[in-house]
Formats: sequence, C-alpha cells, structure tokens
Amino acid sequence: MRLVSLAVLSALAAPAWAETPFPLNDSRFDVLSFGNPDEVLVNDVRLDLDVDFNRKTLEGTAELALKRIKPKAKDLVLDTRELTIKEVECFCDGRWKRITFDMGTADALLGTPLTVHLPDGVDKVRVHYRTSPKASGLQWLEPVQTAGKKQPFLFSQSQAIHARSWAPLQDSPAVRITYSAHLKTPKNLMAVMSADNSANKERDGDYEFIMPQAIPSYLMAIAVGDLAYQPMAGITGVYAEPSVLAKAAAEFEDTQKMVVATESLFGPYRWGQYDLLILPPSFPYGGMENPRLSFITPTTIAGDKSLVSIIAHELAHSWSGNLVTNATWGDGWLNEGFTSYVENREMEVLYGRERAVMEQVLSLKELNEEFATAEPRFTTMASRPDPAEGEGSQTVPSQYTKGQQFLVYLEQKFGRERFDPFLKGWFDSHAFQSVTTEDFVRYLDENLLQKAPGTVTLEQVRAWIYAPGMPADAPVHESDAFKTVDAQREAWLKGEKKAAELDTGAWIFHQWRYLLATLPAELSLEQMAELDAAFKFTQTGNAELAHAWLKLAIQKGYKPADARLKDYLVQIGRRRLIVPLYEELAKTPEGRARAQAIYRVARPGYHPIAQGTVDKLLGVKA
Ligand code: BES
Ligand code: ZN
Repeated sequence: MRLVSLAVLSALAAPAWAETPFPLNDSRFDVLSFGNPDEVLVNDVRLDLDVDFNRKTLEGTAELALKRIKPKAKDLVLDTRELTIKEVECFCDGRWKRITFDMGTADALLGTPLTVHLPDGVDKVRVHYRTSPKASGLQWLEPVQTAGKKQPFLFSQSQAIHARSWAPLQDSPAVRITYSAHLKTPKNLMAVMSADNSANKERDGDYEFIMPQAIPSYLMAIAVGDLAYQPMAGITGVYAEPSVLAKAAAEFEDTQKMVVATESLFGPYRWGQYDLLILPPSFPYGGMENPRLSFITPTTIAGDKSLVSIIAHELAHSWSGNLVTNATWGDGWLNEGFTSYVENREMEVLYGRERAVMEQVLSLKELNEEFATAEPRFTTMASRPDPAEGEGSQTVPSQYTKGQQFLVYLEQKFGRERFDPFLKGWFDSHAFQSVTTEDFVRYLDENLLQKAPGTVTLEQVRAWIYAPGMPADAPVHESDAFKTVDAQREAWLKGEKKAAELDTGAWIFHQWRYLLATLPAELSLEQMAELDAAFKFTQTGNAELAHAWLKLAIQKGYKPADARLKDYLVQIGRRRLIVPLYEELAKTPEGRARAQAIYRVARPGYHPIAQGTVDKLLGVKA
C-alpha cells in the first residue's frame, strides 16, 4: 500500500515466498494499491457526480473523510486510473481551500497514484475530477445494446481494482468506507447504487444514496438506465429494463427463501434490503455481489430456475466477502471459496441434496479439467498477488471449488453440528472486518481443530491452502441422477438405443449439462447431428448449455452450429461464457481467422474487461 514500499516489499517478501513450501499469507500489504491507509486512512466518501451520456463521463467531486493514523503524515496517497484531476481542496479553517497534489507515473495495471499534500490536522479533502470515456470500471452502452433499444445504459464493475477508474480512493479491500452520493442523470433514466435505493421511486434526474455500512471500495457500484422495479417477497426485489422485469421476478422468486435459509444457518443478513439488478447481456460476469444490490447477468434467466445458484452465490457474499472481506486479493478464496460453500448449502435447503451434489460434481469436473493443464503454482487456494501477473493469477477453480471443497472436508470431518456454528462464529466475530488467510487459520485452529484434537491437523489445513492441486483425501461426491445419465449415454454410444429413444424425459438442466461434459472425445459429426436432432442443443435457450454445446461444435467442426455461435458471441459479453469459445476457435489457423472475424463485430459490444481478455487472446491491438 505504501508508495515507497512496493519495490522494497517484493524484495523482502520474495525469498520467504519462494523458499518455504507453505508460504504464509499474513501480509496486510496490498501490492495492488498505492494507497497509504497505514498513515492516513480514508473512511468515508461523498460523491457528487454528473452522469453525462454524451461525453461518457462522470464528472464532479469526491469528498474524502480522513482518519490520521500517523498524525505527522504529510501526504494522502490515493489510487486513480485515467482520471482527470482538476483540483484538490481541503476543508481548512471552516472553508474549502485549494491544496497541492502530484500525479505519479501511470502503471498499466495499477493506474496512477495521486499524492495530496496535507496541511497539518486536515481531516477532509475534496477532489474535483472527471472519468475517462474508457474507464476500465465503467461500461457506457448504446441503446442498441440494451433490451429496450431506446435508452443508453451505464454500469460499473469495480472488483478487483477498477473503482479507482471512477473515483479517487484507497482502492484496497483492506480499507473500509461508508459512502454517500448525489447523482445527476438524464431525467428519463433511473440511477441505482450499492446503497439505500428506497428514495428512487421518482425519476427526476436527481438521486441521493447512502451506504451506512463500511464496505471495501470494490463493492461501490452504480448503474443508470431505463430501469423499473418490482418488489419480491420479504426484503427482496428486482430492478431490470421493463421488458425483462416480469421474467426476472418469476425466475428469481425464491430469493427471499435463500435469505431465510442462509440466516438460519449462518446468522443475520446485515444489509437491510436485498435487491437484484438485471443488466444488459454485455455484463462481463455471472454476477457481482454489490451490497444490497447484486448485479446479475441476464443469461441466468433460463425460464426454469436452473441457473439460480448464481443468485445463491451473490447472496452468500453478503456473509463471505461483504461482511468478512479478504484483506488482499491473494486471500480471494476467503471470499469465493466460502461463498461457493455457502451457496451450495443454500441450494441444498431450497432444492434438495441431490441438486446440491450435482452442482458440486459439475464444479469438480471443471476443476479437474483446469488443473490437468494449469501450472501447479496457479492451483493453490491462497497466493501473494504479483503485480507482474495482473489481478488474478490463481485459476478460478482453485479459489472457488477447491476452497469450497476444503470447507466440505472440514464439515465432513467435524460434522455439521460443530462446523455450522463454527462458521457462523467466524462471520459474527469478524463482521465488517477485512481478514487474511492466516487470520482464518488461527481462528480455525483455536475454535475447531483444538476443540476436537486428532481430527484435522494444522499441517493438513496448510496443505489444502498452500500446496498445489487437490489433496489426496479431498471429499468424493456421487450423484445418482448422474448415474442415470451415464447409463443412457453408454446405451447410446454402444448403439443399443438411438438418441431420440433415450430415457431423458425427467432430466433437469444439470443432467443435460453433465451429458455434454461426459461425451467421449472421439464423437463423430454424425453423432453430433443425431444428438442435435433429438435434443435441439444448437437452439437451446439455456446459455450454459449452449456454451457447452458450442464448445463441442467448435472442437468437432460441426457446421450447423456456426450461425448460433456467431450470434452467441455477439450477443453475450459474459467472460466465462465467451472466452473459452474464442480459445477453442483459436486452436486452429482457420478457427482463429473465424474468431477474429466474429470478434470484429462483437468487440464494440463487450465490456472493457472482456475486450482486454479477448484482445490478448486473439492478438488484437486495442
Ligand atoms: N465476485 C465475483 C465476480 C468477480 C470475481 C469479479 C473476480 C471480478 C473479479 C462473483 O461473485 C462471482 O463469483 N461470479 C461468478 C458467478 C458465480 C456463480 C460463480 C461469475 O461471474 O462467473
Ligand atoms: Zn463470487
């Protein structure tokens, strides 16, 4: 976090990290932030911004409340990225007064440190600034990119280090802030934020928000568009474009039940309201757990609730992530692994053990595939983020699924009667704090391991966390529903039955997904065509199933899916659904040319984050 310490820190940390087999993640330093919260801590942010769709900018002020940790500190260091800083003031002697500042050198990954020279005793500064139309944390959509096609749309995606592209602040998950905002927008649009949205019933181009709970900056979020609101049961509701609203409310009607289930397992929901915001399809993630208002891709609206585990996931972050937050991104498994675990417990309560197990088996299949080719150092749960590697060098499964299975392992070893209260205790005792991996290891040792000596050792725990790959004694899961798929698949492959004769009438999405995940590599084009004729995969409206089928179609050169592939890649911008398809295409020279041709059409519609990934993959210059 300290400006000067970046180089020093990596020099100091390198030998310990490189030489010990299980390096400890106990660093409070965030190598991905320039901020100096150990000297001067920003603890409240007040935004006053004009949302200008013509210029594609946010422009106005950020007022920062400071806590002087080292009273003699002369500078406040903030993170920025492509912000135009016009002026900085302090609130000194009862009035706003101009003070001096320096912009450091821009770093491609981290942005530019903004050093504000503080007069003695100052505890409030105000930064006048404007964002870049290319701000990495914002996407400005043209009307054609929305469902309604008439109004533009703006949304933010701040995780992991993009909040700094739309507000100057100490952009580290170890720093918690309360925030409030005043936004001016075009009169016919509605603005929402990850805050109290109750005042937003009236569309008048003037919006006030307040977030009284202290959150890390990556959870600051904004969206502006032609949005309507529909309350759902209890504390839940949904924002979406008008034409999507009813479908979304029906798909996600179980959200309140998920809240109730999680509360009864792991303690109270502490954020008041829980709403969903359904974004246009270019949203680069499945979901983003912005507090009080999860951002959700429309590709989860499958019509049969088959993909609602994403809602369970984002809701679960209200405990793991938003309430108890990873102190650095190298501790990301504390957010994502815990959340994947809590998500699956919610799914079990709502839809039964069988479905919860199927979801674990499918995640583990993905993990195994990824781990088969990943470099071992990227398959550990915890890591020290390296600015040279970019934001996330761990594979997704190593934080999500491996983290989840580690908690399943503890659950199985200690029993739910011990493990559930332990986990609830972790959330309660660390509420509104940012924590490191070693904080958890200590807590685990004192509150679970030592309570039942001889059950699990600290060494086993550290192996799970710091050693690559999956431990040999990882939990094993079996699904009877998948065994029936195995039987039908084998009958078909052996030629005992035609595809159309298979006994699939009662199958749910997960079984279809499993079928596509377990087809043999040597499948012929005729077999693809037979499956397609029987089950209409090319035209499926389920975005996850379409993804799996299109990936197979690319591998096999199955032409009848070509048009759907192009439509899919042009319409959807969710990274996890599109990037593997581009990767698959890029494996052959012809495929690569096809990928580039499709990407020329698709690129303008993608979010900057997705553009960055695909640019790199296809060697396209931005
Ligand atoms: N917090 C993540 C999204 C994220 C991760 C954004 C890292 C930026 C950097 C969110 O909770 C998430 O995990 N989304 C998943 C869906 C989930 C059901 C696995 C996604 O987007 O695929
Ligand atoms: Zn998550």
